[in-house]
Amino acid sequence: MRLNRRIASLAPSATLALDARVKELVRQGQDVISLAVGEPDFDTPDHIRAEGKAAIDAGFTRYTPAAGIPELREAIARTIERSSGVQYSPGQVVVSVGAKQAIFNALLALCGPGDEVVIPAPYWVSYAEQVKLAGATPVVVPAREEEGWILGAKELERALTARSRALILNNPCNPTGAVYSKDQLSALAEVAVSRGLAIISDEVYERLVYEGSHTSLPSLGPEVRKHTVLVSGVSKTYAMTGWRIGWAAAEPDVARAMVDIQSHINSHPASMAQRAALAALCGPQDPVDRMLAEFARRRDYVVGRLQSLPGLKCGRPAGAFYAFPSVKGVLGKSVAGRRLETSMDVSMVLLEEAKVAVVPGEAFGVGGYLRLSYALGQARLAEALDRMERVLRAAS
Ligand SMILES: Cc1ncc(COP(=O)(O)O)c(C=O)c1O
Repeated sequence: MRLNRRIASLAPSATLALDARVKELVRQGQDVISLAVGEPDFDTPDHIRAEGKAAIDAGFTRYTPAAGIPELREAIARTIERSSGVQYSPGQVVVSVGAKQAIFNALLALCGPGDEVVIPAPYWVSYAEQVKLAGATPVVVPAREEEGWILGAKELERALTARSRALILNNPCNPTGAVYSKDQLSALAEVAVSRGLAIISDEVYERLVYEGSHTSLPSLGPEVRKHTVLVSGVSKTYAMTGWRIGWAAAEPDVARAMVDIQSHINSHPASMAQRAALAALCGPQDPVDRMLAEFARRRDYVVGRLQSLPGLKCGRPAGAFYAFPSVKGVLGKSVAGRRLETSMDVSMVLLEEAKVAVVPGEAFGVGGYLRLSYALGQARLAEALDRMERVLRAAS
């Protein structure tokens, strides 16, 4: 059978070879420590799990409205208002199968063939591929490490053409952990609004901020809000990755379009998962505070250790749960007879020699860096960094 042309243009994952090798090593019984994961290591808090079970036991197992159950849409609207002061009506909120589907719904609603979507790099791996699946063209604009990985308004402006249709902003950012200040966001929003762009604001790490505070894009004012599709979810905040609940909030016509799209693709997320998400948003928030405090401790530890490793340079990420050190200082050196030309090579050597899995910057559109997740217990983190240190000290 001949595949759809859009599928042919999908990039194979830059980490495919790495993943395959991790699996092979694990199959051989090797003790591989993965710092490549993008999900909290904590369990979903008890009261949320209990609500999921109770929903099943009460027979809450049938179709729900395509946009999600009204109580959850209301709770999401209240949550957004509490955290950022922005008022959306429940009718402007669409509950989806994770933030991932919310972003795809938004792209399908807003873009098509001939349209360009600007994506700052380094970027989360699915953005560019989702843009291509929507038939549009991704335009990648590199942010600079010297600027704390924050995209500037001038860089955005230079990337725009008559075909530019949307901008995807990720704040806090995966993989860099960068958090945009209000002024930095306003500068970008001003350009985007003046050029009539839609802004898909992916704020899934909004609660995981360790320095400064998070500014939600639509809180910048009514004009910005009109141009924004706000995306978030429960995966990262409540350790609920497997429940698959995310959402988008937007202007009524865009929200309606996203509901229509979703209604023809997967109808809605699982009914019991929606009830669990409701419990997450409406129940006690102290589990979130505890996770946040633990992530903050680990961040300090991991960044401190990375800064002391030979050839590595690591800034202090202000949010999310990733460190994104530069490995440019070890490029050109060799370890165990292998020459390190790229960050992909460094990640392969760390896997082979240290049995530590990390994601190379190439996967996020920027070579010369590694992404390490610190969503892992302290003892395993310490062991991983000890192993990395042994291998990197041997580079010559
Ligand atoms: C930046 C970013 N956006 C969206 C998602 C998707 O989250 P969800 O589990 O809600 O689909 C992720 C998950 O890794 C992410 O890192």
